[in-house]
Amino acid sequence: MNIGIIGSGTMGIGIAQVAATSGCEVFLYDANSAQTEKSLEGLQKVLARLVEKQKITQESSENIFNRIKFSTELSDFKDCDLVIEAIVENKEIKTKVFQQLEEIVSDECVISSNTSSISITSLSAELKNPARFIGIHFFNPAPLMPLVEVIPGLLTKENLAAEIYSLMESWGKIPVIAKDVSGFIVNRIARPFYGEALRLVEENIATPEQIDEAMRSLGNFKMGPFELMDLIGIDINFSVTKTVYADYFYDPKYKPSLLQQRMAEAKLLGRKTGKGFYDYSESQEPRSKNKDIEQNNEVREMIFMRIISMLVNEAVEAKRLGIANDEDLELAVQKGVNYPKGLLAWGIEIGFDKISATLQNLYEEYQEERYRQSPLLKKM
Ligand code: NAI
Repeated sequence: MNIGIIGSGTMGIGIAQVAATSGCEVFLYDANSAQTEKSLEGLQKVLARLVEKQKITQESSENIFNRIKFSTELSDFKDCDLVIEAIVENKEIKTKVFQQLEEIVSDECVISSNTSSISITSLSAELKNPARFIGIHFFNPAPLMPLVEVIPGLLTKENLAAEIYSLMESWGKIPVIAKDVSGFIVNRIARPFYGEALRLVEENIATPEQIDEAMRSLGNFKMGPFELMDLIGIDINFSVTKTVYADYFYDPKYKPSLLQQRMAEAKLLGRKTGKGFYDYSESQEPRSKNKDIEQNNEVREMIFMRIISMLVNEAVEAKRLGIANDEDLELAVQKGVNYPKGLLAWGIEIGFDKISATLQNLYEEYQEERYRQSPLLKKM
C-alpha cells in the first residue's frame, strides 16, 4: 500500500515510521525540505536505538528506513492509496494543499487530516469529492501512543471509517471512532483534568504540587495535571482549550484559565523552556518550588473528587451525545492520555451518585454553569 504523508514535522515523521514499520511504501513531503532531512536523520537515530535495544533487527531497521521516500514534489503522490496530512494547524493552508492534491491523486485515493482541532466536515466541504475525506488523529509521539481517533465527517462516505479502522489495527494501533465534534474524544473529555486543576490553584485552594500529588496517589495517574501540562507545553494546552471553548460557542464548562494565559504570556511553557509549573533548569525531572507538600487526607480527597467528578461528567455527557460508544470512550483516555482506567468505569467504582453530589455542591457554592451535570448522570 502506498501512503503519502504531507508535513514531516513532529507528527508526520512519527506517522511515517508507523506506516513504514507495517510494510507500507511511504512518500514524505514537506514544503520545507530541510525539515524532511532533519526528521529523517532523527528517524535514523530512533531506529538505531531500537536495534540497540534489540526491539528490531538491523535488517528491518534498514527496510523501514528505505520504505520512506523523500518527496520534493507533491506530484510524487500520484499512486498513493491514502494521504495523511500533518502540516500546520491552519484551515486555509490545509485546504490549499488538499485542493492541489486532488488534482494529483486518483479518484480512489483516500485523503485524510491529522488535525487536532479543525472540523473534518469543514475541511472536506472544500474538496471536489468530500466523500473520500476523513480524520485520522494520532497522538504524540505517534510510534508510541497506541490510540488513533478515526473521525468521519458529515460528508464522508459510509464504510470509510470502518476501512480506516481496520487499516489502523493492521498498523498495530488501537483505533476508536469519534464524531466530528470539537476536540473529538480525548481533547474534549480530558479538558477538566487541566481546567479544574488550574482553577483550584487560581482560587488558592491548593498548589500545583499538592494537586499533582493527590491525582497520583488517589487516582494512580502517572502524571498530575501540572506535570502533564509542562510536558505538553503550556501554550499548546492553552490553545487547545481556547479552540474547544470557542467551538462550543463559549460554553462556560470549557472556559480557559487566566493563570494559564499568564504562564503562556510569560513564556513559562514547561519543559521546552526549562520552566513552567516546575523548574527543569537542572534536570528533566520536575523540581518543585515548594518543597513541603504534606497535606491532610481531607484536602487530598477534595482535590481528587473535584477533578475526577468533572472528568466523569464529561465522559457521561459524551456517552449521552453519542460522540463514541462506551468501549471507545473508555479506550480513548487509557490509550491516548494514559489514564489508569476508563472514566465510565471510574464512575461506577466511585458511584455516580457521589459524583453527582460533588457537582451539585460545587454548583450550589459557585452558581456557575461550569458545574452543570449531564442529564444522563443522574440516570446512571
Ligand atoms: P510541526 O510544526 O512539527 O510540523 C508541521 C510541518 O508542516 C512543518 O515541517 C512545516 O514545514 C510543514 N508545512 C507547513 N505548511 C506546509 C505546506 N503548505 N505544505 C507542506 N508542508 C507544510 O507540527 P506537528 O506538531 O507535527 O502538527 C501537525 C499537525 O498534526 C497539526 O494539524 C496538529 O494539530 C496535528 N497534531 C499535533 C499533535 C502534537 O502533539 N504535536 C498531536 C496530534 C495532532
